Amino acid sequence: MTLDRRQFLVTAAVAAAMPRRALGAIPVIEAREGVAQLAPAQFGETPIWGFDGTVPGPELRVNQGARLQRRMVNALPHPTSIHWHGIRIDNAMDGVPGLTQPVVEPGEAFDYDFVLPDAGTYWYHAHNRSFEQVARGLYGPLIVEEAEGPDVDDDIVLMLDDWRLDPETASIRDDFGNGHDMSHAGRIGNLVTVNGQFDPAIRVAPGARLRLRLVNAANARIFSLGLDGFRGWVVALDGMPLAQPEPLAQPEPLVNPVVLAPAQRVDLIVDVTADAGSVASLIEMRREGGVGLARFDIGAGTGMSRDNTPDALPPNPLPDLAGWEEAPRHEMRMQGGAMRWLDGALLGDTQLSGRELAQLGRFWALNGQADRPEEPFLDAERGSLHRIRFVNETMFPHGMHLHGHHVRIVGAEGLGPWRDTVLVDRGETVEIALNADNPGKWLLHCHMLGHAASGMSTWYKVG
Ligand code: C2O
Ligand code: CU
Repeated sequence: MTLDRRQFLVTAAVAAAMPRRALGAIPVIEAREGVAQLAPAQFGETPIWGFDGTVPGPELRVNQGARLQRRMVNALPHPTSIHWHGIRIDNAMDGVPGLTQPVVEPGEAFDYDFVLPDAGTYWYHAHNRSFEQVARGLYGPLIVEEAEGPDVDDDIVLMLDDWRLDPETASIRDDFGNGHDMSHAGRIGNLVTVNGQFDPAIRVAPGARLRLRLVNAANARIFSLGLDGFRGWVVALDGMPLAQPEPLAQPEPLVNPVVLAPAQRVDLIVDVTADAGSVASLIEMRREGGVGLARFDIGAGTGMSRDNTPDALPPNPLPDLAGWEEAPRHEMRMQGGAMRWLDGALLGDTQLSGRELAQLGRFWALNGQADRPEEPFLDAERGSLHRIRFVNETMFPHGMHLHGHHVRIVGAEGLGPWRDTVLVDRGETVEIALNADNPGKWLLHCHMLGHAASGMSTWYKVG
């Protein structure tokens, strides 16, 4: 192509007016179709939707305090977006269509560009029809590294998912959003994968000390996990370091499993105690007993094992909660679902009966509202403290997730760990303390994704 002088000047002026990253420097992540060998080989491959066509999507690893830039190109025939789960992010980059950005239509792109204030284990996932898009594979790990990480021999991400596959064809069952799943425990699958594989084998050295980063990317499954052939410690929850590493219970019997609700993460530091040449495993405790989810093949040789307890990870720059006892209290009543069917609730500002709501695919309500309301649940001044009580009046557990902030669980002895997703068991009340220091419009929803889409979603506003 040749340009005359006038066209050249126009082109140059347009280019100069565009932000530099628009010139193509920003790396691309593409939402598209792909295939993955999820099930054991005899079942064949499964068509999925994935970032860069894989599941999990590419592992993004950045240094704490660094900036992450990705142009998300939507090569799917469905609108989508990316939410960076657990990142205390600039609101405009939070990835919620209709709240923080327009949905990204097929063939279009959106530039994500933000700073990562906290080290830890996070993840990213689609945030449009996420009950379908995440279930089809649109997620990946986001790891933010400490300036000075712990003394370990290896750092292994284990992303857990729970698929509902057709046993004949190994394809994903196309029954998203059906009323039964939505009104009960959510989409529970029939095949658990770790890093997109059934029972993968991971090679580790005898005596090695490992950092294991577990992420629950499932739609609805709550994992109760244990390890066999390791001893270890919990060092972080939802990305945030514990003040003191907490020893893991021994797996035999697995009396005190690590519980991971959808979207939650746990970082473990573990020492291989199984013998060289043997196998250690990650185990899920189910009603019928322990089931291996991933195997660790212990290599040959004699490893040198450490005998010290690992140090706590360096703390993240989280906001101060001093004075939380006096903070205003807010109640969020979680209502509806099977066996506690809604009598009625608001949809927009219309009061509907439970039957009318069910016909519209609404089974849950938060404080009597069965969709994301016009008015925020909480309108907080920037830097103000709040106490929120999640009162679960339903017959199901829910994992309540706040965008934009981490909160601390209020325990009998004061403030517990920092979390971005809080498991509230049926009939249970859990209170959290929040410093609303990140301005913007933030979602607050159940991370059982079918529940979020059928009533358990609201928002709060800061600043
Ligand atoms: Cu990980 Cu609004 O979600
Ligand atoms: Cu729920």
